[in-house]
Amino acid sequence: MNTFPSDITPLAAELRERLAAAGGLPFAEFMAACLYHPQYGYYMTPRERIGKAGDFFTSTSVHAVFGRLVARQLMQMSELLGGDIFQVVEQGAGEGHLALDILETLASEAPELYARLTYTLIEVGPASRDRQARTLAAHAARVAWCAADEWRIDAGCFLSNELVDAFPVHVVEKQSGELREVYVAARADGTFGEELRGPSTPALTEHFKWLGVAPVEGNRAEANLAAPVWMRQVGERIGRGFVITIDYGYPAAELYALHRRTGTLLCYRQHQADDDPYTAVGEKDITTHVDFTALQQAGDEAGLTTLWFGEQYRFLLGLGFFEELLRLQACCADEREARALRMTLKNLILPEQGMGETFKVLVQGKGVGAPALHCARPISSIPMTGLAAL
Ligand SMILES: C[S@@+](CC[C@H](N)C(=O)[O-])C[C@H]1O[C@@H](n2cnc3c(N)ncnc32)[C@H](O)[C@@H]1O
Repeated sequence: MNTFPSDITPLAAELRERLAAAGGLPFAEFMAACLYHPQYGYYMTPRERIGKAGDFFTSTSVHAVFGRLVARQLMQMSELLGGDIFQVVEQGAGEGHLALDILETLASEAPELYARLTYTLIEVGPASRDRQARTLAAHAARVAWCAADEWRIDAGCFLSNELVDAFPVHVVEKQSGELREVYVAARADGTFGEELRGPSTPALTEHFKWLGVAPVEGNRAEANLAAPVWMRQVGERIGRGFVITIDYGYPAAELYALHRRTGTLLCYRQHQADDDPYTAVGEKDITTHVDFTALQQAGDEAGLTTLWFGEQYRFLLGLGFFEELLRLQACCADEREARALRMTLKNLILPEQGMGETFKVLVQGKGVGAPALHCARPISSIPMTGLAAL
């Protein structure tokens, strides 16, 4: 058994007892407690998580341009749907930045749509819900909150940014052709240890059969069993409309490729990444890369057709990223301000160190045919006039 130190956070102490009583638990249950324990879970406590004072940046915390461009895509979706109502539902809204930037954009660029839309947020953390309410106070007439099983979209769009990467995952290894699962156990000396055992549920083997891709012999990998279940539920709750899922991840063949020997699990705390979920238990984020093939397949089963899938940089460029950059740059007081703006915005599209390539966007539709979405505009058709100066 591999062993790890457990610094004694209140959650670590509680988990040690729980693990000892149970004789070990699948990693997915350990991760669920780290993130969602009602009292001590990372997402349940009133800490700073997002932005400079927190643990990580998200695209929505980088600049309002991100939300503004998503809003432009929503405007087109509303036109495609027609009718009087347009319902947006966002799950896992963090500080509420994306909602704010979307609502501000619609209020100024599409007031008729703003006046008839509803924007519903689903948020697991009570402190985050309060912060979202404060962020969105100026739009109180348009926004509401509900539980994950309470919403329905008759016509509209379901949105999430960096939600699915937080779902608890089972961790597996393929050993001598057999699928083995990582269990976490408590040791007498106060450390957490990992043990490989048989799968805790037949759903694991079934998942890889359903996916049509299996972990490579000797590799460690994650199985996000909650993600396809979630996607089917999203599909079933939509009458006509769209789903936009933004997160870091890959298609399954790439996610489970030979070279990815230790999986993709990472923890974030104060802008430092590490791969040790057994320290600072409950005080750091734990995430894994998203399997977009699983999301697409599960969506298909719930009547959601994939309309577009690609890197975040393509999505943003298609929606007018460069045009927006040039417009904002023209408003800068001097070259120093313009350079700072460019440096900030580049984070959204740069492949390395930035969020441009690892981040993907999946756009699905139900009952909407196969429209040519603005986000799918080919890069070759984007006017490059004025970009030489960037
Ligand atoms: C990584 S943050 C992303 C926040 C935000 N979307 C952004 O772009 O800044 C994840 C957010 O999802 C919330 N969350 C995590 N799991 C959730 C769930 N199952 N249902 C609703 N919200 C959830 C967290 O509390 C947090 O607000």
